Amino acid sequence: MVKRNVESEALYREVARLLVDRGNCVALTGAGVSAESGIPTFRTQGGLWEKYDPMEFASIEAFRKDPSKYWSLRGEFIKDSDLYQPNNAHIALAELEQMGIVRCVITQNIDGLHKKAGSKNVIEIHGNLMEIYCLACGKEYKAPYVPEGMPPHCLCGGILKPNTVLFGEELPVDVFMKAKETSATCRIMLLVGTSAIVHPAASLPYLAKENRAKIIEINIEKAFPEADYSIMEKAGTALPKIVDEINKFSHE
Ligand code: APR
Repeated sequence: MVKRNVESEALYREVARLLVDRGNCVALTGAGVSAESGIPTFRTQGGLWEKYDPMEFASIEAFRKDPSKYWSLRGEFIKDSDLYQPNNAHIALAELEQMGIVRCVITQNIDGLHKKAGSKNVIEIHGNLMEIYCLACGKEYKAPYVPEGMPPHCLCGGILKPNTVLFGEELPVDVFMKAKETSATCRIMLLVGTSAIVHPAASLPYLAKENRAKIIEINIEKAFPEADYSIMEKAGTALPKIVDEINKFSHE
């Protein structure tokens, strides 16, 4: 398959046609899809892991030693979570689900913005920052209603932890099995805003390819060389363009 880049409008028409003809599309998203909502990515210029050592701030080992490190990294976002809104990329993916083209969004993001945008079938393989629970008694808390304190404690005195997968933690087995099954049975995978290097999520596009799915990458840099189509464009621009092209077909 010849690689195609974003320069031609024809590329958008071809990708839109493929989505309409094949359907059964699964989106695998990463931090890049939320970048235009003002949420920092991890590994691009100025990303979170340039400022913070993930092993010191976002590993389960570090959390057990000193939970305030992770809370210092994520506490602000949790308290201000209502301020973060879905951008045009999240909205376009929800529209593609309503059109019956995207049947599932598998996201590595923990910001909850796909659901906020209206996507119904979302697999949050790294969990969700908005869900917080007590490690001692299991009581659940919902962002932004988190008790004061660094780290915040439950009424029972236990430490609170967001329901996110930290480095060194296994992904919930049932959740990842569902993501694998979904990836292995799709006919197109939209790979949106991910460096596609963190496993086990990074294995999903290969699973899709094994099933002869076409991979369409939307990114501002080439992250997945095995993609059949590469749209080098911001997700908030590229995805609405694809939706527009599909709408043109239905008016032809
Ligand atoms: N539109 C599309 N792509 C973008 C945009 C944008 N507006 N902005 C950035 N990108 C791309 C970057 O080029 C990069 O390839 O998004 C990707 C973000 O990569 P990472 O920062 O590595 O984020 P992600 O792939 O989600 O990381 C995976 O690593 O640290 C763990 O748990 C964390 O879920 C995260 C996982």
